[in-house]
Amino acid sequence: MSQRKIFVTTALPYANGNFHIGHIMEYIQADTWVRAQRMQGNAVNFVGADDAHGAPIMIAAEKAGKTPQQFVADIAAGRKQYLDGFHIAFDNWSNTDSPENHELSKQIYLDLKKAGFIETRTIEQFFDPEKNMFLPDRFIKGECPKCHAKDQYGDNCEVCGAVYAPTDLVNPFSALSGAKPELRTSEHFFFKLSDPRAVEFLKEWTQNGQHVQPEVAAKVKEWFGVRTNPDGTTSEGLDDWDISRDAPYFGIEIPDAPGKYFYVWLDAPVGYLASLKNLLNQRGEDFDAYMADPNQYHFIGKDIVTFHTLFWPAMLKFSGRKTPTKICVHGFLTVNNGQKMSKSRGTGLDPLKYLALKMNPEWLRYYLGAKLNGKNEDIDFTAEDFMLRVNADLIGKYVNIASRAAGFIFKRFEGKLGQISEDGQALLEALRAQKDAVVAAYEARDTARAAREIMLLCDKVNSYVDANKPWELAKQEGMDARLQDVCSTCIEAFRLLTVYLKPMLPAVAAQVEAFLKIDALQFADADRLLGAGHAIGKYEHLMQRVVPEQLESLFEPPAAPEPEAVKPGGEEIAPTITIDNFAKIDLRIAKIVECKAVEGSTKLLQLTLDVGEGKTRNVFSGIASMYKPEQLQGKLTVMVANLAPRKMKFGISEGMVLAARHADSKVDAGIYVLEPFPGAQPGMRIG
Ligand code: 2FM
Ligand code: ZN
Repeated sequence: MSQRKIFVTTALPYANGNFHIGHIMEYIQADTWVRAQRMQGNAVNFVGADDAHGAPIMIAAEKAGKTPQQFVADIAAGRKQYLDGFHIAFDNWSNTDSPENHELSKQIYLDLKKAGFIETRTIEQFFDPEKNMFLPDRFIKGECPKCHAKDQYGDNCEVCGAVYAPTDLVNPFSALSGAKPELRTSEHFFFKLSDPRAVEFLKEWTQNGQHVQPEVAAKVKEWFGVRTNPDGTTSEGLDDWDISRDAPYFGIEIPDAPGKYFYVWLDAPVGYLASLKNLLNQRGEDFDAYMADPNQYHFIGKDIVTFHTLFWPAMLKFSGRKTPTKICVHGFLTVNNGQKMSKSRGTGLDPLKYLALKMNPEWLRYYLGAKLNGKNEDIDFTAEDFMLRVNADLIGKYVNIASRAAGFIFKRFEGKLGQISEDGQALLEALRAQKDAVVAAYEARDTARAAREIMLLCDKVNSYVDANKPWELAKQEGMDARLQDVCSTCIEAFRLLTVYLKPMLPAVAAQVEAFLKIDALQFADADRLLGAGHAIGKYEHLMQRVVPEQLESLFEPPAAPEPEAVKPGGEEIAPTITIDNFAKIDLRIAKIVECKAVEGSTKLLQLTLDVGEGKTRNVFSGIASMYKPEQLQGKLTVMVANLAPRKMKFGISEGMVLAARHADSKVDAGIYVLEPFPGAQPGMRIG
């Protein structure tokens, strides 16, 4: 078979958090596939990178007091322990802020522009006047226009599920500064997916049965049909894609458009190519030559299908490049029948805790492999099921074969394999006959089927062991030749099973190769036997069983958090402000020259205040529950003298009297007006 050149990627993780078990599952799936390809003799480049750009990372970096570059580098430094820990062997790990990505993203954009696929349009967007930036939808909050739940995100309501545009929110505010956002116009760049050339190409590309799984194709097909937009209008075909963002933005500046940056999702998939280019450059290989005819596979989760089945193939196609071979979509991983484990919600099974507990990474590789079937379906990690599966399959069925036979060969026959008689040959033939089926299952990412078939073969070998009972042969006079025959059959069988399991269990396979004293196993090695006379080494136990205590520790809730910080008066001290900000508030001593009840209100008192301006001010204050008017009349207090006048039901309030209260009215429902020490005069400024 001729060698195929294959380029494989996994989705590039945002560089604002550590890996969670959802990432690890995807990487294990891809890594297993890559190893199976290599065992067929194919040449694979397997690359990853951090997805570095975008507003959330820029904002997180600012909060952490770091430059975005430093922030991303710090996250990247934590990646290796996960990848090494689970035997995930990327050939390269780069990031999307690399020079290669800047260059390639710009080039692809310019090629798209040349082909007539880029258009500019003026759009209206919310702008934060304090932060001086346009706000991404998720940084705009407000009241749901449907159910009026407070504090909802700019795109949908978590309470009633309504979907809307940020501009529909009631009393919108910036989640960054709290400021009221303003609608401002800005010129944005669009990738014209609505162009009939794009629609026609993508319909064919997604529906021709070659590039995506059938269940994914069916989903994508819906996107070409009629749909209802958040504002109630309907559209058909594909919408153009807004690919630009305004400064400040951590990203790649658009050529000839100062202050405009590529939206993170434009340059993220280009990061696949950039990481490959970076790898090939390191090796002194030619990227353009490689990309002239790549077999390009992207492993991704079901939440980012749009980007990979519409935007990305269209970007490649209409910039004159080769399109991906396959987009391999997996479902989400849930833990203990719990919530989904994608993206931000990485709770439940902490990969680093798993490793810290010295749990074998290959248990997890096998368990996930035995569940993943190549379809876009969710799977669940269940502690009990994990233990039973690993112990039954890997220890009870597979490792058991070697442990039952190797000792006899080593001790009784100087480690040498002997002749194998007909029954043993027939068994080995049955194992060899499954090679193509196993390889095909790996190719289809149906590792569940591969695991099932391999375990059936293990059962066959164990039945052979049970029928021949080497431990009894060992005690019988004159049965040495048969003992060597039976045990040699077991070792040969064990080697074949190791070939089949190797993509899922690379470290165990390496131990087996050492103990059998053989070169790295390939699938083609299933067609051969070690043969009589081959000497093996001493068998060391290959794998421990999973014990319930480990799982208990793994899922033990983390130690109780530190007691909460003391909250004076029931609330935390507000974020620090500058003296300049404080100076904006003009606080003055005011004399309460008159104080009256407000007819129709049980809460308010009406105060007439003198702040030494030669005229009085009218102020309403919600203190009627605490003070009778006569208690206050003639006293001094403190007021905010430069607060914009507010129109209230009972008249205009021209300032605010300062009063103290506990944040939780159940603790103390009182409200206490401030009074200065003697000597203060009306009109004196406080500061
Ligand atoms: O959804 C995500 O986590 C994105 N960072 C995936 C990007 S995949 C690719 F396009 F880079
Ligand atoms: Zn709502």
